[in-house]
Amino acid sequence: MNNPPARREKTIERPAGAGPFNLLKDPIMRFYATTPIYYVNARPHLGHAYTTIITDAFTRFHRLTGREALFITGTDEHGDKIAQVAEKHGQAPLQYAERISGLFRAAWPRLNAEPGGFIRTTEDRHKKAVTAFLDRVRGDIYFGRYGGHYCVGCERFLTEKELADGLCPDHRTPPQFVEEENYFFRMSAYQDWLIDHIKKNPDFIRPERYRNEVLGLLKEPLEDLCISRPKSRLDWGIDLPFDDKFVTYVWFDALISYISAIGWPEDEPFGRWWPHAQHFIAKDILKPHAIFWPIMLKSAGLPLYRHLNVHGYWQLGQAKMGKSVGNVVDALGLSETYGAEPFRYFLARDMAFGLDSEFVEDALVARHNSDLANDLGNLWQRSLAMVARFGGGLIPEDGGEIPGRDLAARLAEEYRAHFQSLALHKALASAWELIGALNKFIDTEAPWALAKDPARAGRLAAVLRSLVEGLALAGALVWPVMPRTGEEMWRRLGLDPEGMSLDLAGLRQNLHPGRAVLAGPPLFPRVDFGGRPAETKPAVPPAAPLKAEPVETVTIDEFRRLDLRVAEVLSAEAVAKSDKLLKIRVGLGAEERTIVAGLARHCRPEDLVGRLVVVAANLAPAKLMGISSQGMILAAARKEGEGEELTLIAPALPIAPGSRVS
Ligand code: MSP
Repeated sequence: MNNPPARREKTIERPAGAGPFNLLKDPIMRFYATTPIYYVNARPHLGHAYTTIITDAFTRFHRLTGREALFITGTDEHGDKIAQVAEKHGQAPLQYAERISGLFRAAWPRLNAEPGGFIRTTEDRHKKAVTAFLDRVRGDIYFGRYGGHYCVGCERFLTEKELADGLCPDHRTPPQFVEEENYFFRMSAYQDWLIDHIKKNPDFIRPERYRNEVLGLLKEPLEDLCISRPKSRLDWGIDLPFDDKFVTYVWFDALISYISAIGWPEDEPFGRWWPHAQHFIAKDILKPHAIFWPIMLKSAGLPLYRHLNVHGYWQLGQAKMGKSVGNVVDALGLSETYGAEPFRYFLARDMAFGLDSEFVEDALVARHNSDLANDLGNLWQRSLAMVARFGGGLIPEDGGEIPGRDLAARLAEEYRAHFQSLALHKALASAWELIGALNKFIDTEAPWALAKDPARAGRLAAVLRSLVEGLALAGALVWPVMPRTGEEMWRRLGLDPEGMSLDLAGLRQNLHPGRAVLAGPPLFPRVDFGGRPAETKPAVPPAAPLKAEPVETVTIDEFRRLDLRVAEVLSAEAVAKSDKLLKIRVGLGAEERTIVAGLARHCRPEDLVGRLVVVAANLAPAKLMGISSQGMILAAARKEGEGEELTLIAPALPIAPGSRVS
């Protein structure tokens, strides 16, 4: 075996002396996290949203503890799967990939996730990195012939052992038998080295169950990895630098995105971030990340990532949520209904990292009402009301003994330890323990009673101060998962959200006595769902009553003359010189149309892109503001007349654009 010479690893300087909160306890100085780069064969769903949201939350957590932190996401655009789906849509692969990649990129800010970078495998910077990488590992590549069971869904060969009754266990489809001449990467040569590395670094793959799973896989002899596809069969990929009759196998290409996104093969910013790399994935892609990728890095003479963090599946009806099973939940739709912050909270709180979770919408509503509206929302409202009433609406003095500081410090420490060990749901439980304790503290201290007794003014001031400090800490603790909420809490307490931190001493110093506390609307108005059991449906304005006068009827045949179709919004923009109209491009399967719709006052153009709507497709074209409109988008009035509010009509489940509505 020909291994390229080992390259020297970059070292990052560690600042001397005491750093911010607890930095010295933990050797990580920076945090570089990645989500999987998602295939562009499906629009973003709850499963993708989960990984992206928690990666965003972990990144924010590391910032809270004083580290520099960055996370990257992106899209995986090559390979059989994308080529096939693009063809189905009658589009060139790149054209198709551009559109879906755009949906992913636009989705994350709407869920309050702020990736520091977005990488597409069709970008030049990425292609360059793949080429450089292949050159580096050339010594481990040989030409040969192979036949095996290929699952297009997984984009990899499955071993006999991985098949369940002859089917792919994840996609429940039979793999196809593929046999051809290709280039192979000598993984087998690294098997013992990898086993040794995993054994010596117990937290390389975590939680432990996945480490054990990988060690189990490694008990069988590793097969070499087929890393090319002949262009005669598939040309949608990156050319092999040493044989242009072949393109690179999609996984070999995709994994390299984790370093191309930070500038590799250039030294910087790669050298700054890579020593701190952690990948977040679900268990579906454990093998490529735990086996292919470390071996690829080793062969290229590059340092390995620090941790592979593996979570379980969101399931619906006991099956993994996914496009191939067709049981996906629309993440953006849910976050629009309930708000991005409650949606993030629910996802982070209701999945134990590493285990599967069944998605139940009612559980989301229940979490919202009990944890957010009740516990946190009430605490906030009543505390601010008391500061207003008994403390003149000002941050109280920090004089004398402030009760509860020990408890706050202990819970902050527990929270930190849980986050550090990936137990995000437990970190939130610690935060809610603080919130619960503060609520109880108000009840037992009864500031309203203290206020009646001038001899106890000192205690009243200390209680109010303790409450304000507790709220500020609660704001910081919720910030990684609910950034807008945490920032709003800090702002209203006169703190600068830019300085969001877990440094308790610093936090106290910045709560300047005498500064005004801003009362405002509740943080989480309760969500009331009529229809289902009490407390489980959002309040909607009553429907406009049906008109009393008889409505003209139409026959079923007349109704059928209307061609109603599901359409996907491809782009939307305001129409110049109109405050009502939007110019919207929709896709109806094979066909695209422009529709001018009076929706400008009801939705932002960027929120429309990617949504499924219903259009009247055979309406005679009309010109509006000089633009030809070919159809009408259906909407219903939540409120009629002055201050009219429209809401779009959409299918309850994802369905192919172009489907007929009847
Ligand atoms: N393109 C590859 C990844 C290449 S990374 C170098 C891929 N893409 S994917 O679009 O299929 O995304 C898979 C990932 O999406 C999972 O690992 C997980 O992060 C997320 N999820 C997709 N469905 C999910 C659930 N039902 N539950 C939890 N996470 C899910 O694989």
